[in-house]
Amino acid sequence: MLIDDIEYVIFRHPDLAQIREFMISYGLLDLEQTADQLYLRSYGDAPFSYVTTKGDAAFLGMGFRVASREALDLLSARFNCPVSESPRPGGGLYVVGSDPDGRRLEFVFGAKRLAPMPSNGFPIAWNDAHGKNRLGKFQRPAYGSSHIQRLGHVALFTPAPQERIAWYCETLGMKPSELIHKDSESDVLASFMHLDKGAAWTDHHTLAIVGAAAPGIDHISFECRDFDDIGMGYQVMSDKGYQHRWGIGRHFYGSQVFDYWTDPAGFHVEHFVDGDLVNSDTPTLNRPFGRETLLQWGPAFPGL
Ligand SMILES: [Fe+2]
Repeated sequence: MLIDDIEYVIFRHPDLAQIREFMISYGLLDLEQTADQLYLRSYGDAPFSYVTTKGDAAFLGMGFRVASREALDLLSARFNCPVSESPRPGGGLYVVGSDPDGRRLEFVFGAKRLAPMPSNGFPIAWNDAHGKNRLGKFQRPAYGSSHIQRLGHVALFTPAPQERIAWYCETLGMKPSELIHKDSESDVLASFMHLDKGAAWTDHHTLAIVGAAAPGIDHISFECRDFDDIGMGYQVMSDKGYQHRWGIGRHFYGSQVFDYWTDPAGFHVEHFVDGDLVNSDTPTLNRPFGRETLLQWGPAFPGL
């Protein structure tokens, strides 16, 4: 196994105060800030989840937590980059590479983990029709921003989806959970890809690779505490007048309950909860593209 998980995203934004206000409202927490760089953490144990540097708006790349020192050495050889000490919060050793579209890829081993932050309560207890789990207590989730637990996945655009899917499989040990095709099964338009962790369970997708006219990013996605955390996050972002993109709904691929917002520079960010897990026994599915596979319930995708 090469990689344990995706851990952070790397952006540039023209106004750090503005993007900080947005992402704190969205559910991240302050970690470190200088005049030209902003680090934000989640409520989980990752050293940080989000970094942006002052400059023209851009998505630059992402960081992964490497599974072992041996895996880091293998990635060092694969990307022809020596192992060095990471200058980012948490430190550790890292290797820097890029994918064929030019995205920066950072691979970190041995960074210091943070103590998780309390998330203003535990996942809510539900009184379903067939299971009453909350007796004599009223359901009163506290008003406030979501409690983002971790970065979950990134959805990338590329002009060469089949080549990029193959590249991420060969280079980072990823596997398609699901493929989406156009006219025939070999005419692949997109894939939702998981980390190959053998029998261990892992997210249905850590990367989504989607065919498009040019390289880019569709969205980054953060896992929230529970369903109410998504709904209360919607309420706070709505009250603050931020730009909503899509949701609340339940995806088809990966099954997450989702809600998307657009940051001040135009990048889309997703809240999710209740995603599918897969392992090496989970078969890879290949389906035709269709509106019905965009979501199981919720508002239609904007423009479709
Ligand atoms: Fe997503």
